[in-house]
Amino acid sequence: MRIDIITVLPELVLPFTQESILGRAQKKGLVEIHVHNLRDYSTNRWRRVDDYPFGGFAGMVMQCEPIDRCISQLKSERHYDEIIFTSPDGEQFDQPMANELSLKENIIILCGHYKGIDYRVREQLITKEVSIGDYVLTGGELAAAVMTDAIVRIIPGAIGDEQSALSDSFQDNLLAAPVYSRPKEYVGVNGESWGSVPEILLSGHEAKIKEWELAQSMERTKRLRPDLLKK
Ligand code: ADE
Repeated sequence: MRIDIITVLPELVLPFTQESILGRAQKKGLVEIHVHNLRDYSTNRWRRVDDYPFGGFAGMVMQCEPIDRCISQLKSERHYDEIIFTSPDGEQFDQPMANELSLKENIIILCGHYKGIDYRVREQLITKEVSIGDYVLTGGELAAAVMTDAIVRIIPGAIGDEQSALSDSFQDNLLAAPVYSRPKEYVGVNGESWGSVPEILLSGHEAKIKEWELAQSMERTKRLRPDLLKK
């Protein structure tokens, strides 16, 4: 899979793509992530990519030309399955969308900025508008990072233990069961016991542990996210 991220802040996005699971997935050859500086496609003397909106509205608008030049260049090199624009008025990003996008061959994520982009870009080039939640961010870079992370981590082989991607919260509309590590008993720094690991997890009884895990998932989902059970 290949993900091309177009942004005016590559220095914000690039380091994120080089660390942890995203970095390792690229080294393993499972995914290529390319970050493009939109300013490199500006024909303006000062590398500007935005201008005032017609109509006297407030704020600045990202112009058609640099985006057109950048995306046209990429499209001349390969076919893209999806050209995504990050926007608070887009379709809500969720696990099923991450799963679907992780099956694509090549996608572009264009990070929105300023007041917005010239509407003609959205009409002519964008195939999908995506929001990561009902709040307004300063720019689409964090949204692109969130989406890239969620998409790449479920590519088979991206995380060591494939089973653990499948048992994530939301993969089956259930929150994940609690997990514990050593020590079996922990006494906090204030001297009070934090309790012990549930006995069943120490039993070695695989079937019973699975049963416990499901019961815990159901209980936590009912209590914390009952809306998921209706899906
Ligand atoms: N840009 C600004 N806010 C956003 C959001 N909530 N999701 C995606 N892109 C955005």
